[in-house]
Amino acid sequence: MSEQVVRIAIWGSGSGSNAQSIINYFKIRAGVEVALIVSDQPEAYILKRAEQAGIPRIYLNAGQRKDASFLIQLMQDHRISMVILAGYMRMVNPGFLKAFPGPVMNIHPSLLPAYGGKGMYGHFVHEAVLSAGEKVTGITIHFVNEVYDEGEIIYQEKLEIDPSWDAEELGKAVLKIEHRCYPEIIEKIAKKLPDNL
Ligand code: GAR
Repeated sequence: MSEQVVRIAIWGSGSGSNAQSIINYFKIRAGVEVALIVSDQPEAYILKRAEQAGIPRIYLNAGQRKDASFLIQLMQDHRISMVILAGYMRMVNPGFLKAFPGPVMNIHPSLLPAYGGKGMYGHFVHEAVLSAGEKVTGITIHFVNEVYDEGEIIYQEKLEIDPSWDAEELGKAVLKIEHRCYPEIIEKIAKKLPDNL
């Protein structure tokens, strides 16, 4: 059981609304510190959020993303024990996943394994769910392994689809659940980390 502050890095590619909810949650709670924000997009709003919150931030270029030792060193330099993917739209370097000693988690806007896999992210997921005529969708929080969207599932929550919703409205309803659940699940996992991580 970890009594120490668990330092986390959030990796994202876009708006970073999940990152914001995680930042806000841990601003007023002990145990977890958002210590680094990473993006593969130089102009991503998630980096702006980091700047506003006074959190160190880094844009990773293609060369850096391919370099597992660079990524490991970066996490070590910031004493990161857990990596949180929040709207990170790329595969994470497999060498990094093998070498990083702590958990790497992701949130996905559907009930995996449904509507997961390559090309299934953000609005594409919601459009696919609606065109299939689904009545229920939801969110999945899972550990990340080398296969896209197939790591061990930690938590899922269902959402009933209002038949009047378009993909954007569905996306908003899904995000609302994500913002509530993700920080709580991160906190639970952080509490179970061994102290030496
Ligand atoms: C979220 O809905 C997240 O579940 C999804 O992207 C959105 C990011 O929003 N992730 C994926 O689709 C991953 N396959 P945010 O940048 O506002 O947090």
